[in-house]
Amino acid sequence: MSGSYIRVENLKKYFATKRGMLHAVDDVSFEIKKGETLGLVGESGCGKSTLGRCLIRLLDSTAGKVLLKDNEGGGYTDITKASPREMKELRKRVQIVFQDPYSCLNPRLSVWELIAEPLIVNGIYSDKNEMRRRIRSLMDTVGLAERLENSYPHELDGGRRQRIGIARSLALNPEFIVLDEPVSALDVCIQAQILNLLNDLQKEFAYTYVFISHNLSVVRHVSDRIAVMYLGQIVELSEYRELFSTPLHPYTQALLSAIPLAKLDVKRERIILEGDVPSPIEPPEACRFAGRCRYAKDICRNTPPALKEILPGHFAACHYAKENMQNVHNA
Ligand SMILES: Nc1ncnc2c1ncn2[C@@H]1O[C@H](COP(=O)(O)OP(=O)(O)O)[C@@H](O)[C@H]1O
Ligand code: SF4
Ligand SMILES: [Mg+2]
Repeated sequence: MSGSYIRVENLKKYFATKRGMLHAVDDVSFEIKKGETLGLVGESGCGKSTLGRCLIRLLDSTAGKVLLKDNEGGGYTDITKASPREMKELRKRVQIVFQDPYSCLNPRLSVWELIAEPLIVNGIYSDKNEMRRRIRSLMDTVGLAERLENSYPHELDGGRRQRIGIARSLALNPEFIVLDEPVSALDVCIQAQILNLLNDLQKEFAYTYVFISHNLSVVRHVSDRIAVMYLGQIVELSEYRELFSTPLHPYTQALLSAIPLAKLDVKRERIILEGDVPSPIEPPEACRFAGRCRYAKDICRNTPPALKEILPGHFAACHYAKENMQNVHNA
């Protein structure tokens, strides 16, 4: 794992709604390293899926850049501004796996046809036998038995359906995959199988992942680094162990305190978050967490805190991040 593979700069995605502009993703900047898994965590509605979709241009961004490193030369291509011709090539390099594969798998297609679809749409094989070999190999890679090739999605359990979704996303040999809550809809024992599969695939093919989840315990097991989102912004970003041992943002501290202590090896007081998440339509102008933060002072309501590197490689967007570090260690 080295260097920056994707650089996200001041990315914004606003939706026009009847009540005004909804700030789903609001000025986020970060980088993703080649071969790493970046966990993206935060409560439902904080903008994780929107950000994930903007990264691979399933959604057009409102402003900002998503720079993807070129395979040749040292340059970057801004995926948010790529032409249709450039996008056709980039589509092969970036993929997504959704939470609920059932809703995005055409129920009238068999397993075989579903996995063949991206190969056919992109005109990858002219030779039928070659395509047959590729489909068999993809089924084998994701652990789908050959006998299932004529089955339909409704005949399969959630785990197998997710394996189809993964096979489809791997069909074009991508480099970067956004995993949007890939196990949230699955039974706990199947979750572990799919997480293991994703992990094995990454080891074998050196994929770069963004792993989205509302559940910090899940991202903890799969991520190299974790970004915490709150109301459209990244409030903390750190190597995963350090995020758990030394959370610098009061929101991360509250999220962590909600994980049962038995699951953590650190002592922690339970922080009850009061108040609701503010509306993304008129988000607070300064610190978006101020209305719920037990450390909030006047400056928090007047000046937005920038995401700053507080410890090496450990970023937080809080005026009192350094003081919070003391609070954690004195708790
Ligand atoms: N197409 C859309 N039109 C309007 N608002 C949207 C749309 N998609 C998402 N949103 C809003 O953007 C915010 C972020 O949503 P989302 O990215 O789905 O969050 P998450 O994945 O973290 O649950 C939410 O307030 C959601 O209601
Ligand atoms: S900037 Fe202020 S309100 Fe915002 S998280 Fe930090 S201490 Fe709390
Ligand atoms: Mg989502």
